[in-house]
Amino acid sequence: MTIRRSVVLGCGSYLPSHVLTNEDLALKVDTSDEWIVQRTGIHERRIAAPGETTSQMATQAARSALAHARVEAQSIDLIVLATSTPDNTFPASAVSVQADLGITRGAAFDLQAVCSGFVYALATADALLRSGGFSRALVIGAETFSRLLDWTDRSTCVLFGDGAGAVVLDAQDQPEGPNARGILTTQLRSDGRHKSKLYVDGGPSSTGTVGHLRMEGREVFRHAVAMITDVVEDAFKATGYTSADIDWFIPHQANKRIIDGSAHKLGIAPAKIVTTVDRHGNTSAASIPLALADALAERRIKRGDLLLLEAMGGGFTWGAALLRW
Ligand code: UT7
Repeated sequence: MTIRRSVVLGCGSYLPSHVLTNEDLALKVDTSDEWIVQRTGIHERRIAAPGETTSQMATQAARSALAHARVEAQSIDLIVLATSTPDNTFPASAVSVQADLGITRGAAFDLQAVCSGFVYALATADALLRSGGFSRALVIGAETFSRLLDWTDRSTCVLFGDGAGAVVLDAQDQPEGPNARGILTTQLRSDGRHKSKLYVDGGPSSTGTVGHLRMEGREVFRHAVAMITDVVEDAFKATGYTSADIDWFIPHQANKRIIDGSAHKLGIAPAKIVTTVDRHGNTSAASIPLALADALAERRIKRGDLLLLEAMGGGFTWGAALLRW
């Protein structure tokens, strides 16, 4: 017997070249390297060059994922781009990626679930691949949060960075059993009662402006660990796995204290945590594929490993995915 699964064939990433350090930020706002490192674990982040867009970064990450997967762009029939910072209000930045890659068939669209965007995009692509309508997908997280930041607000401008990450997902009939590769479960949650705790104060139908990111950081922090651990427990219930089975924990990279707190509550050993928040800051929907690409570049993940992905962010939205590499 076989089971249809979405298997990750490859992963790639792109980071803008400009590095903004905590020391650089301390020259702009009343902050310090010590405060930022202690409260968040962030040392530096990347900032997109003037004129560098989300779709350009997404295309770079997609090309690197296609090369890693050793497949041609022409084999892709689905592109799901998770972003809250599209090039334009419309069309979707995903169609720019599609055009840049020279693809003229299949479907391409953006998905907006803020920091949980990559997990939402993975779940969406997985469902479309398993239902049989599509055969190979690019799932991308790409963000230029630097364009949404209020650079005079020290409580938010020190936290975020720009970048993009992508995976190639392939619909495959895998032999049924515990070793079948691919996405095993995705769990998605949201609760709009929290929508004003992390939001952008502009938009096409409200102000007609792009707006700036606003956050009640302490409130987001207060909910984060409980929401993350709850949804991960649901992923364990759905599959029968436990924390002991996890080889790599690849969380959304918002704050090292949230990552470590969640891992501790779930009983996941620190050596299994992939952390990039120190070098990337919070890149929203891009953070999980960027961390995945980082761990792969260091040759930490091997075939057959069990990976746990999770994220939580604006909305609130949150979610988790379990996949066998
Ligand atoms: O991607 C998912 C969504 N985002 C998150 O997950 C972020 C969740 N929240 C957080 O990570 C944390 O709440 C922060 C890192 C944003 C803040 O850390 P905190 O430990 O919750 O600090 P706080 O907001 O309680 O602020 C403590 C103090 C305040 O001063 P007072 O009122 O105690 O005098 C702030 O004004 O730190 C002050 N502060 C700063 N000081 C120096 C806030 N930002 C800064 C700063 N530099 N950049």
